[in-house]
Amino acid sequence: MLPVAVLVSGSGSNLQALLDASAADPEFGARIAVVISDRPGVGALQRALQSGVPAEVVRWGEFNDRESFSVAICDTAERYGAEALILAGFMRILSPAAIDRYPNRIINIHPALLPAFPGAHAVPAALAHGVKVSGVTVHFVDDEVDHGPIIAQQAVPVQSDDTEETLHARIQKEEHLLFPLVIKAFSAGSLRVVGRHVIWEES
Ligand code: GAR
Repeated sequence: MLPVAVLVSGSGSNLQALLDASAADPEFGARIAVVISDRPGVGALQRALQSGVPAEVVRWGEFNDRESFSVAICDTAERYGAEALILAGFMRILSPAAIDRYPNRIINIHPALLPAFPGAHAVPAALAHGVKVSGVTVHFVDDEVDHGPIIAQQAVPVQSDDTEETLHARIQKEEHLLFPLVIKAFSAGSLRVVGRHVIWEES
């Protein structure tokens, strides 16, 4: 079992999808060693508690810069033996220090079809732009924001009467299916990175 740290900032529905997959599928392959939040009081921490998974808060506000915050996140993950970082609605950008410590071992989920609509407001940005299709991207994290090699994507139609809430809900349904699939493949060693390309191999 690959020990992983799941990084969160919010309600944790994607964390829940990973917890459910690990409970339901004996071949899931990843063990959530710790959940780390950048803020206290979020739903994701509650979900960790309910599942008996250790949870830690590394408060963004307690650090002077991104570098020292990122080092603290990695140190916390390492204390629990985590060999990869899974960003499940984590709304902070990690510094190159973290990427050097976990090369091709940090995975993020993003609620748009990258490279369209990177950043923290992907769903309202897609709606404002008037796209007819948006979706989900799961990718490895590199030094640029929402930029690393793409592991998987799923398109989601945009409807003319969508609000941010209705579109995000439709996207999240797909996130909860895609994310566990990707983490299972990653844990099995089935993802090979060649430049910008991720090749899915049989394990
Ligand atoms: C998810 O939709 C995820 O794609 C998004 O935050 C949401 C977290 O939901 N991530 C980003 O926007 C990252 N830029 P959750 O806390 O219920 O999993």
